[in-house]
Amino acid sequence: MRKNILAGNWKMNLSENEAIQLAKEVSEINMSNVEVIIFPPVIYIPSIAKLGLNLKFGAQNFYPKDKGAFTGEISINQLKDAGISYVLIGHSERRTILKEDNEFLKEKVNAALELDIHVIFCCGEELKIREQGVENEFVKSQLEESLFHLTGDQLKNITIAYEPIWAIGTGLTASKEQAEAMHLYIRETLAQKYTKDLAAEISILYGGSCNPSNASELFACPNVDGGLIGGAALKSTDFNSIANSF
Ligand code: 13P
Repeated sequence: MRKNILAGNWKMNLSENEAIQLAKEVSEINMSNVEVIIFPPVIYIPSIAKLGLNLKFGAQNFYPKDKGAFTGEISINQLKDAGISYVLIGHSERRTILKEDNEFLKEKVNAALELDIHVIFCCGEELKIREQGVENEFVKSQLEESLFHLTGDQLKNITIAYEPIWAIGTGLTASKEQAEAMHLYIRETLAQKYTKDLAAEISILYGGSCNPSNASELFACPNVDGGLIGGAALKSTDFNSIANSF
């Protein structure tokens, strides 16, 4: 059966000392029924890796080429050398601010899977898409254009994170009904493209202003298998209490 996952996306926050302290605190969270993964700023990954904590970590970003003249970029093999086993792909901040489109995200997915790095693939609509009532079609096209070229075996290395853009960092959370409806839709879309059994194995996380007071009701939804947490992942007490909401 699929796993419960709690991932902390630290985005571009924290000093090195703060990052090390937070990683140590997060590694003490009771992880018996949830897989916990942190995504620190890339520059702190080697220092966190050196601590040898009982904690999974990944990269927030990479460039999908092995090597070459890509000034300022970092490859997935370089990150793998640093010890990562996960990457985030398709986060809305990279889609909107860094202009990453579905075709480029597909290249990133291929590059990560080639090196056996597990992908957390983010999707989600902005408010005006939801107001038009076409959020399902919008999310489906994100999945189709970046993931649906994969074989079923490859898809097993993908976790999906549904992050409605209108809920990210805004304090507005999707209601449990809105989250469940989209997660169910995503699972049915996977089942149509692949098989029902495979779709049932894929963890689908919710992200967007998830915090200690709303996590329990979100995680209680049958198709919500955990969270991708931003702001509330920066305080170990909040993150711990979210981890205890399963
Ligand atoms: P917040 O939890 O701060 O809304 O961020 C969600 C997110 O973007 C996680 O990737």
